[in-house]
Amino acid sequence: MRLKNIKGAKEKISKSPYIIQIPETYKGKYKTLFKNKKPIHLEIGMGKGDFIIGMAQKYPDINFIGIEKFDSVILRATQKLENIELPNLKLIRFDATEIENIFDREIDTIYLNFSDPWPKNRHEDRRLTSKKFLQKYDKIFKQSKHIIQKTDNRHLFEFSLKSFTNYDYKIKNLSLNLHEDNFDNVETEYEKRFTSLGMPIYMVEVEK
Ligand SMILES: C[S@@+](CC[C@H](N)C(=O)[O-])C[C@H]1O[C@@H](n2cnc3c(N)ncnc32)[C@H](O)[C@@H]1O
Repeated sequence: MRLKNIKGAKEKISKSPYIIQIPETYKGKYKTLFKNKKPIHLEIGMGKGDFIIGMAQKYPDINFIGIEKFDSVILRATQKLENIELPNLKLIRFDATEIENIFDREIDTIYLNFSDPWPKNRHEDRRLTSKKFLQKYDKIFKQSKHIIQKTDNRHLFEFSLKSFTNYDYKIKNLSLNLHEDNFDNVETEYEKRFTSLGMPIYMVEVEK
């Protein structure tokens, strides 16, 4: 998702109480930020925030952190949160290629929703389900590793299934049409758009 650069976005997001300004300072210490020991779930590439906000509202006993690499995109999430109080939600403007610099063995679940597909073979490493990223996630998961992916992109989905299983993840749940199957689900912005066009949503939940 690439919104036009919004003037002053960086400054505006810095004023939101939901934004963690210097995430490196909380590496290994997010419990102190949330002031409790509840599990921490992370969404990488949260876009404008519908999913992570919806999840934080639905599950108050889980702490949620959303990461997004663009100021102008995460700004939209902070605007949606202006009159909402959610002590179990924090947001970080950060590029996940360096995710191991901001977390240390403290994440319970990672959500990857409608991640950029990077269709060219030479860009395979940039896909958030590539081996390169799975190795990074190893460093941030607390104990057991748990990833839930949703996508409309068949190629990315097939790539991810291979990547997960080659990396010894076991498939716990899988759907080739999430909205026809009976899974607990909070929709993302992209998901709403694709579903309104009648497109199937693929979902896989893996663990190891
Ligand atoms: C296709 S959009 C999907 C947004 C949202 N998850 C949804 O489902 O509506 C992908 C988002 O991931 C973000 N993103 C892509 N690569 C990223 C990275 N390495 N670190 C953080 N965010 C990233 C993009 O900026 C974009 O907002």
